[in-house]
Amino acid sequence: MIIEGLRCVRQSLRNEGLLATLAICGSRVVDVGFDLRYGTDTYGWVSPGHFGLDAERVANSEYYKPSHGGPLRQVLASLDLPGRRVLFDIGCGKGRVLMIAAELGFDIARGIEFSPRLAVIAQKNLERFARRRQTATRCEVILDDIRAHTLRDDENVFYLFNPFDGLVMSSVVQKIQESLVRKPRQVHVVYRAPEQRRYLDGSSCFESPIRFCSLGQEYLLYRSTLGPSAASSS
Ligand SMILES: C[S@@+](CC[C@H](N)C(=O)[O-])C[C@H]1O[C@@H](n2cnc3c(N)ncnc32)[C@H](O)[C@@H]1O
Repeated sequence: MIIEGLRCVRQSLRNEGLLATLAICGSRVVDVGFDLRYGTDTYGWVSPGHFGLDAERVANSEYYKPSHGGPLRQVLASLDLPGRRVLFDIGCGKGRVLMIAAELGFDIARGIEFSPRLAVIAQKNLERFARRRQTATRCEVILDDIRAHTLRDDENVFYLFNPFDGLVMSSVVQKIQESLVRKPRQVHVVYRAPEQRRYLDGSSCFESPIRFCSLGQEYLLYRSTLGPSAASSS
């Protein structure tokens, strides 16, 4: 862990320079502070081999890595969301994004996670969070594989931190498109480390993305084109 951390610092110094590296290190310290403050466990990486699932089921998955709180708060706060705010974190891991959405006053913070081990930790984290922080946000963790899940059509922010490969990503984009046909509405996709962006870029349901960068973290922000016709034509 320490060696890995030092390697990251060295790489960041080389790529980002001193000031950005200091800002990134500060952001990591704030994330440790988040867990200390709420008594939660969101830190660290977990490999798919430790998800508690068969190797075949995790073949398309990335590691569990938590989003960094500082940049995440900034990017979520930057969204233009009049009215009800319903966030869906696809691959929510230990639930850090849900708790940050609750801090920001979202109406619903929903996550789906297919690792039973991580989903249990997320549920416990939400309970601990609720004991220490009063919130009107309804927080939900769904234990399921996104490939088998039907969207509830009330979400207007989809959050993804590079959770899976292109095979799963293409089916997720398809699900969002179908949801927009069933219930036309404005939605945003916030995509961190957007390795599978081509599926969103290739969809006529979304405008060209805006790049949002904060403390060394890059996000792409996609906004849906309004109306069902665009969705049904893709
Ligand atoms: C990089 S982590 C991000 C965790 C969290 N969203 C965050 O930003 O803090 C990606 C998560 O996606 C989950 N995941 C991968 N494939 C999935 C699938 N098919 N269905 C549900 N969850 C999945 C992994 O188990 C992992 O916890």
